[in-house]
Amino acid sequence: MISKQTIDKIFSTIRVEEIVGEYVQLKRAGSNYKGLSPFHDEKTPSFVVSASKQIWKDFSTGKGGTAISFLMEIENFTYPEALRHAAKKYGIEIEEDQKDFSEEAKNAQSERDLLYKIHEIANDFYQNFLWEVEEGKAIGLSYFKERELRDDIIRKFQLGYSPEKKNAFTEFALEKGYSKEILEKSGLSIFPENSPAGIDRFRERVIFPIHSFSGRVLGFGARILKNNVKTAKYLNSPETEIYHKSNVLYGLNQSKQAISRKNVCLLVEGYMDVISLHMSGIENVVASSGTSLTTEQIKLIKRLTENVTILFDGDNAGIKASFRSIDMLLTEGMNIRVMLFPDGDDPDSFARKHPQEYVEKFIENEAMDFIDFKAEILFREIGDDPIKRAEAIRDIVKSVSFVQNALKREVYLKQVSTKFGLSEQSLFNELDVQKQITQNQTQHIQQRETHKPAKLEVVPKQSELEIDSVQFNILHQENKLIDTMLMFGDMVLQRKNDAHEQYEVTVIEEILHHFEEEGYEFQIETNKKIIQNIKEGIEHDELRAGNFFITLMDEDITSKVADALMIPDELSDWSTRNIFPPNLGDHIADEVEANILIHKYYYIHFLIKKVTAELEEYRDTDTEKYFESIKKIMMLNQFSIKLVDKLGWSPITKI
Ligand code: CTP
Ligand code: MN
Repeated sequence: MISKQTIDKIFSTIRVEEIVGEYVQLKRAGSNYKGLSPFHDEKTPSFVVSASKQIWKDFSTGKGGTAISFLMEIENFTYPEALRHAAKKYGIEIEEDQKDFSEEAKNAQSERDLLYKIHEIANDFYQNFLWEVEEGKAIGLSYFKERELRDDIIRKFQLGYSPEKKNAFTEFALEKGYSKEILEKSGLSIFPENSPAGIDRFRERVIFPIHSFSGRVLGFGARILKNNVKTAKYLNSPETEIYHKSNVLYGLNQSKQAISRKNVCLLVEGYMDVISLHMSGIENVVASSGTSLTTEQIKLIKRLTENVTILFDGDNAGIKASFRSIDMLLTEGMNIRVMLFPDGDDPDSFARKHPQEYVEKFIENEAMDFIDFKAEILFREIGDDPIKRAEAIRDIVKSVSFVQNALKREVYLKQVSTKFGLSEQSLFNELDVQKQITQNQTQHIQQRETHKPAKLEVVPKQSELEIDSVQFNILHQENKLIDTMLMFGDMVLQRKNDAHEQYEVTVIEEILHHFEEEGYEFQIETNKKIIQNIKEGIEHDELRAGNFFITLMDEDITSKVADALMIPDELSDWSTRNIFPPNLGDHIADEVEANILIHKYYYIHFLIKKVTAELEEYRDTDTEKYFESIKKIMMLNQFSIKLVDKLGWSPITKI
């Protein structure tokens, strides 16, 4: 761990214009610098560096942040990696917090090193066997040739061959001085009682080494050569100290630059799909290795891009299983498209049949967004049955409920409404229900853990829905206001006070003022933290909007901010959609005003709900408080009516 003092020192020493200047040609433009975006092909510079604020902003991609976050973007560094890199450049010595370096930790470290080493040795061994030894050439290499792989591609993916002999590798490694113990821990050998010389895990198979993000060999996948044999087609390394299947994506190391450059990651199922696509020149691809994605894997992709296109063969039995991957990706804030190959083709066969440009165009044109994709798959089987149709739509809305960014969620919901000719209102209600289901699931788990009686179970069904729709609305609107602060916080609004005098106020100040005036209690912990931070900033006379938060260490905050700052593709065509046009200050002014009022309205109903619950308690116990509560509710209702009037909602509009 890099000490806090060192981090502070790094941030106060480094200059964003110098660090960025190593990658981008910057020209002075007023008090700022301008250049061509390094993340996007462009002719007019849209990349701006502010030396006074020590931040950069790329208007073509919407990215922005500090010098450190720039290094993370451009080099795909992690936060500590970027800090170390900057410290080195400025000759700052890194102090480590020493406390976590016990004797045990050191031993574990050296064992891990040994495991890395033995995988390197094995990788060389298998490759050598493929290229240099008769058996390998005759069986392994000719297999790859049969599948039309070029030499350079076989080398690029370091493919190999494991010989037929029972302990060929084990013997080799023991001779080199590696212990039985470490060989066994690596999963490469086993030593049964009756075979003291050991047995290789991989025999008579072609070998696909599995690399870490930075290119270390962590384990292997090994394919059988004949298709008709009864044993499993692939044999893979077991989980070891260095190989955790759920943290690894096949091909990421070979594909990371292309993923970052193209700003989209293709996701396929198999080793061979990755390799074939590379061979045809499409290099932004990784494989999930036939399983559903994990959060860790998605985070790996997210270091490079937030856009994922899932590629499937059309008659794949596992397509429905992919729905889980879709929801996982949405939960992590990714933008997804899905593509089905026609006529029993998979990415491997399709890439071998057609030239690169054709495949690229095909993916570009045929990939659907997740809504259309799910609709196509679900509607394929059900025909006109209205009940099944409703269920399918519910399933799609469920996916929408996983979208974290409130603005994006609204856009998707609009899309569903247009597509199926349903009112947005009924879909919002449905979204409500879906959210409630997810919440209930977690609530039940929490309740079981704390042994509290499950309260919701005794409440009749109808009011259960109501409780949650109030809760949902307030959460939704709270998020919307926070997102607005993060995205447009430093925009200045022209307002008039009650005496009709003009004054200026920033978006941040206006929304913050509203929260304070209401004495609003935040429903979401991350939002509370963000507001605390903004307040601290104001005490120090600095305006903390989106980019400020990117530099915080708090994972929850940074990911939320990144999400809000990243303007969804669907929203980029602002003027036609009438949502937060970023360069039309007037609209922002109106949106902020309206959203504050809507938040007020939801909050009033949240309070009414709360007081109503209290009311029941007081009915038989405390008459005075009972009537007080009734008065409160009447007052709140008065406010609500006034607000409805102010918002210009007709009396029957139900939110
Ligand atoms: N897989 C596995 N074990 C199996 C079968 C499959 O681990 N018994 C994993 C492998 O990572 C494989 C992926 O699931 O790459 C997808 O399976 P499949 O499409 O059958 O594999 P391909 O890599 O396409 O292999 P091939 O084209 O050589 O059959
Ligand atoms: Mn295949």
